[in-house]
Amino acid sequence: MNQDKAPHHMIFGALILFVLFAGLTLYAVSLVEAGPAPDNAVSSATFRTKCAVCHGQDGGGSEVGKSMNVPDLRSPVVQKLSDAQLAQIISNGKGGMPAFKASLSEDQIHALVTHIRSMRSKK
Ligand code: HEC
Repeated sequence: MNQDKAPHHMIFGALILFVLFAGLTLYAVSLVEAGPAPDNAVSSATFRTKCAVCHGQDGGGSEVGKSMNVPDLRSPVVQKLSDAQLAQIISNGKGGMPAFKASLSEDQIHALVTHIRSMRSKK
């Protein structure tokens, strides 16, 4: 009788383990997929150290920047530029805007473009 029961417990136990394992796997996958998100924090830190001197933390332009006539990065004038144009300007500079291709990787420049996009809605 007891011998009869044992396999059932084992199947039940295996089932619980399987459900736990599947849950953990899904959780791990969701963590991996959320991975690139901290990119945001990294790109805003890059912006703070490399760009805010002139463009201000919020993209509206610092005192120094305003004296150089920096455009408001949140404005349509800048936001209407394509990602490629923004990346190109950050890489090669433009007017008083310094070139950053020597000090930033392509990934960092791309992250900055995303960061500039994220400023659009915030006022
Ligand atoms: C030394 C000051 C300075 C720094 C630092 C600086 N910029 Fe600029 N930026 C400018 C000026 C000045 C302009 C206006 C250039 C023009 O239109 O002649 C400008 C323009 C821009 C534009 C808009 C160009 C356009 O055509 O409207 C973008 C986008 C931009 N900067 C992004 C950045 C990013 C991203 C960083 C950091 C990696 C950065 N800037 C760092 C001074 C600066």
